[in-house]
Amino acid sequence: MLLHLTILAGDGIGPEVTEQAVLVLQAVADGFGHQLQLQHKNVGGAALTASNDPLPPDTLAACCASSAVLLGAVGGPGFDHYPQHLRPEAGLLRLRRELGAYANLRPAICFPALEDCSPLRPELVRGTDVMIVRELLGGLYFGQPRSIAGSSGHRLATNTMTYDEASIERIARVAFDLAAKRRQKVLSVDKANVLECSRLWREVVTGCAKDYPGVQLSHMYVDSAAMSLVQHPREYDVVLTENMFGDILSDQAGAVVGSLGLLASASIGGKVGLYEPVHGSAPDIAGKGIANPLGAILSVAMLLRYSFQLERQAVCIEKAVCALLSQGARTPDLTRNGASAISTSQMGQRLIEAVKRSADAAHRKSG
Ligand code: IPM
Ligand code: MG
Repeated sequence: MLLHLTILAGDGIGPEVTEQAVLVLQAVADGFGHQLQLQHKNVGGAALTASNDPLPPDTLAACCASSAVLLGAVGGPGFDHYPQHLRPEAGLLRLRRELGAYANLRPAICFPALEDCSPLRPELVRGTDVMIVRELLGGLYFGQPRSIAGSSGHRLATNTMTYDEASIERIARVAFDLAAKRRQKVLSVDKANVLECSRLWREVVTGCAKDYPGVQLSHMYVDSAAMSLVQHPREYDVVLTENMFGDILSDQAGAVVGSLGLLASASIGGKVGLYEPVHGSAPDIAGKGIANPLGAILSVAMLLRYSFQLERQAVCIEKAVCALLSQGARTPDLTRNGASAISTSQMGQRLIEAVKRSADAAHRKSG
C-alpha cells in the first residue's frame, strides 16, 4: 500500500516528537511492505514566521491532497500578542475545519508499567481505558459572533456557543459505534442544567441511543464528570462531549494516566484524517531532547488504524510501546524521584528496534 502523508511538525517540541514518529512509521512501513510518500509543510508559528500565515495555502493544499496528516504541535509564547486570526492555534483550527475533522478521538490508557506515574493511587488508575470522543468543529471554538469591541476600560468580549442537531447526532454516532466495539458504555458529558446547547445535546444523544440497544448510555454534568473522572477513572469507557469540555477533560485524563505526553489523538470524519499528540508545543522544554515522543508515536498507530485500516500495524506499535515501558524506558516526564531517563531520540530508537523485531516475527510466522 502507498501511504501518502503530509507531515506538519509545527512548533515547540512538535518537530522533535514528529521526527521520531516518522522514523517509527518508516520502520513499520518497511517491516510490513508499505511505501511512504511524505511531504513536509509549515503550520502554526513556524508558518507565521516563514510566510505570515499560520495555515499557508500550499500547506492546506498538500493536506487536502494526501491520505492523512500527521501534526506535531502549534503555539508558543512569541505569538501571544498576535491578533486572534494570526495566532498559531488559528491555523490548526482552520485546518480541522477545512478537513471536516469533526470527531476527535483521544484514548487515555493506563499502561500497567506506569501505574506509579499517576498522581492517583495505583489501585484507582489500574486498568483505566477511556476513549474521549470530543466534538471538534462546533461550540465556542467556532461560534459566531465573536469579538472584543469597545474602547479601553469599557470593552466587551463575546464568544458564541452553538450546536445544531445534525452536528450532535453525527458525533454521537461515532461514540456509540466505538462503544459497541469496546465495553458498551457511553457517558455523555454536558451542562444541561444551565446551557441550551447542552439541553439539545442531551436530547439528541438520548434519541440516537435507541439505535444502539446494546450500549448503555448515561449522562453527567461536566463539573461532576471532572470529579468522577479522577475518583473512578476505570469505570469509564467512551466519554462523549462537546468541543470545549473535551479539550479540558482530555488534559485531565492525560494527567490521570500518568503524563499528557502519552496521549495520542485522531481527528476524523472528513476525507482526510488529522493525527496529533494531545500535549501541545510545550515551549519550556522545546529543543532539549527530553520531550516524550510516545504521544506522537501512538498517533501514528491511530493513523494506520483509522486512515488505512492497518490494524495489525497499529497494534504492533501499541504493543511495542507497552513492552518498552515495561522494560523501564522512561522520558523525564515519566520518572519519579530522580530515576534515570532517556532522551526523545533514544525512546524513538528503542521503539524502532521493537517494531522491527515484531515485524520480523510476523513474517516468520506467515512465511
Ligand atoms: C488541543 C489543543 C488545541 C485545542 C489548541 C492548540 C487550539 O489544546 O488539541 O487540545 O484547544 O483544541
Ligand atoms: Mg487541549
